[in-house]
Amino acid sequence: MSRVSENLAVLGLQWGDEGKGKLVDLLAPKYRHVVRFQGGNNAGHTVVVDGQTIALHQVPSGALHPECFLVVGSGVVLNLDVFQVELSRLRERGVNVTDRLLISDKAHIILPHHIALDVWREERATKVGSKIGTTGRGIGPAYEMKAARMGVRMGDLRHPGVLAERIRPGYDEVRLRLGEGAEMPSVEATVENLLKAVEPLLHCIGNAQSRLLQACAKGEPILFEGAQATMLDIDHGTYPYVTSSNCSLGGLFTGTGLPPKALHRILGVAKAYTTRVGSGPMVSELLNPLGDRIREAGHEYGTTTGRPRRCGWFDAPITAHACRTNGVDGLAVMKLDVLDGLDEVGLVVAYRDGRGALTSELPSCAAEWADLKPEIKLFKGWSTPTRGITDHRQLPAEAQAFLDALAEVVETPLAFLSTGPDRTEGCVYPGTFLESLLG
Ligand code: GDP
Ligand code: IMO
Ligand code: MG
Repeated sequence: MSRVSENLAVLGLQWGDEGKGKLVDLLAPKYRHVVRFQGGNNAGHTVVVDGQTIALHQVPSGALHPECFLVVGSGVVLNLDVFQVELSRLRERGVNVTDRLLISDKAHIILPHHIALDVWREERATKVGSKIGTTGRGIGPAYEMKAARMGVRMGDLRHPGVLAERIRPGYDEVRLRLGEGAEMPSVEATVENLLKAVEPLLHCIGNAQSRLLQACAKGEPILFEGAQATMLDIDHGTYPYVTSSNCSLGGLFTGTGLPPKALHRILGVAKAYTTRVGSGPMVSELLNPLGDRIREAGHEYGTTTGRPRRCGWFDAPITAHACRTNGVDGLAVMKLDVLDGLDEVGLVVAYRDGRGALTSELPSCAAEWADLKPEIKLFKGWSTPTRGITDHRQLPAEAQAFLDALAEVVETPLAFLSTGPDRTEGCVYPGTFLESLLG
């Protein structure tokens, strides 16, 4: 398959799990490099090929394409034990990536005391009602330790002699907070485990920024794979109910070391409805049998934790905010088939505030979100299934009318429509930048 000349970012526009993994897998053959730039194993990206489901957490979703070189950028936080499990699962499927993988020597490592702190804090928060509902993977503490300059980076693993002293300050702080009784492996045991886990990967650690800059200079195309999504972005999401990285566009540059001019196109990914895992505002949430029906039809249970996802109608104010924040060029609408067979399909076109006034502005404080109610526009549902449709002209008129309204209200053109989990299930809209890639 011929390659393209432009670099593309695939970014989530809601609260995650939009279907980024499917799109990255679909687009990957056109690119030489596939790059993760933030997040860690809180991400769960699913790829379905010939009925086989593969869940990726830290390995970029270009893994299944042998021609793709995989890069884990400096903005990622890595759990090495989980990474090993992912690699061995891929190997069992005949996919070996370690000869085409580069992990930034600046990427931070998730350590056992980060996980212990994450879990401890969430358990404690349950009692005071401020639980974030994290994935419990130590993501927040790993980024905290990075900011506190107590992090341990992949490059440090090349210097076993200094590892214990790099780990100890953060470890001691966590010990102080959790108490002597807290179950955490000792610093020595942590060092030993890290060295064992990294051994087969030592040749994969290096200067990812330099490799990507060279790729740009040589015109080798790069596909950037966002994890989480804009509404979980630590600055631009529903703070404090967010993750601890910049999942929106800015994170791509800090998380790779590339300048903005290295990126040419941005594909925003959103489901035809909305889901969220964990706590926090969700104006469109359907706390009724309709929400349950969407959850069951869409198998809306977390790829990483198995938790049921909260479900609601497509939320235009949040998605429009995400399109603006990321400068999205085209919209990939996923999982339309999940809405098949409903009598009516809703679109949250705006919010009503506490005084009953219409607004599309997103509040900055969690307290202000609580006052908002959804302003729902209902569309006639469709009885002909959309599952597996590969040509948008075959869509039921009602489904296309819903999609056109959705694109209009978020002021972004439709570029792709997904009609099932498999690679083959979906259609490209003609006249969009995706047409030359997938058309
Ligand atoms: P990601 O985190 O954004 O990569 O998304 P996830 O993989 O966590 O969740 C998306 C889920 O929806 C996965 O189970 C996909 O296999 C599935 N999926 C993706 N696109 C479609 C679609 O168009 N229709 C249906 N029914 N499922 C889809
Ligand atoms: P992908 O890449 C959905 C959510 C968690 C929690 C919040 C903070 O698969 O879209 P964290 O463990 O990151 O500190 O948890 O963020 N969250 C996700 N929700 N998809 C994800 O990733 C998520 N990664 C984190 O549920 O609400
Ligand atoms: Mg996911």
